[in-house]
Amino acid sequence: MKPIIFDVDTGIDDALAMAYALNSPELEVLGFTTVFGNVPVVDATRNTLAVLEKVEKRIPVYQGAAQTFMGRDKKNWPKHVHGEGGLGDSFISDPITEAESQFAPDYIIEQVKKRPHEITVIAVGPLTNLALAIKKSPEIIPLVKEVIVMGGAVNVPGNVNEYSEANIISDPEAAEYVCSSGIHLTLVGLDVTMKTLLPKSKIEKWRTGGNEKGYFFADMTEFYIGSYEKRCPGIAGCALHDPLAVGVAIDSSFVKTETMNVKVVTEGEEAGRTVGSHQEEATTRVCTEVDANRFLEHFLKRVI
Ligand code: BDR
Ligand code: CA
Repeated sequence: MKPIIFDVDTGIDDALAMAYALNSPELEVLGFTTVFGNVPVVDATRNTLAVLEKVEKRIPVYQGAAQTFMGRDKKNWPKHVHGEGGLGDSFISDPITEAESQFAPDYIIEQVKKRPHEITVIAVGPLTNLALAIKKSPEIIPLVKEVIVMGGAVNVPGNVNEYSEANIISDPEAAEYVCSSGIHLTLVGLDVTMKTLLPKSKIEKWRTGGNEKGYFFADMTEFYIGSYEKRCPGIAGCALHDPLAVGVAIDSSFVKTETMNVKVVTEGEEAGRTVGSHQEEATTRVCTEVDANRFLEHFLKRVI
């Protein structure tokens, strides 16, 4: 079993990724860390706890950054994509469980030092928690086994604007800090995630068991698909961004990678752009191809 710290900004596809990871025997999720992104960090924490209750798992949750690496507030939340509170438009009661008191970056540092060269961090929100952890304790850089990031758009257009993907543009300085740190990094960006379409036709059967969990996931995924349909009429599905990062942690043969040096543009019109170049000293594995059908089948067998 791979020990995992899972950094989330829960969000609908984060919730799907959580369920997929928690139902995968190859992974042992030690803890979830939360960050602002799809929603403010307190909402990301609440949503993470709520999802854990729905799937009936007790895993500790550590709240992290509320602001960017440079201390800025995020101003626009993508409510049209993830809904008012981040999990679609259905009513979700407040979780009974609570987050731990330790700050997420400190939890990351502590765990990595406790288990050197063992821990994989899957990060599917802005990279602020990881950047803060590295800044405070750069000695963890060689001790992290791997960081698998859902983020970026290297050879394809962005999803926020023509250049940038949502996680990276939410905190470009943090992303640049992590990418240039030398940490062992795999980038699962829009280059591959936009090829993983979950068709609307597949989620109806989640409701057939009549259980609350199935309705919960089907309702919010339908909301998410609705947002894709508004932006891309006729698409009838949604991209499995965050679940693919989990898929890569389970089985890296779902993707093909190219080793590149990745720089993140931090200012100007192209802020948030991930620029990849093939250089001799490059270390970042950028996913460039995906076996989308095999991944989708694997995801669907496990998620609910
Ligand atoms: C990423 O942005 C968020 O909206 C999703 O949760 C995903 O992590 C996709 O660009
Ligand atoms: Ca996310």
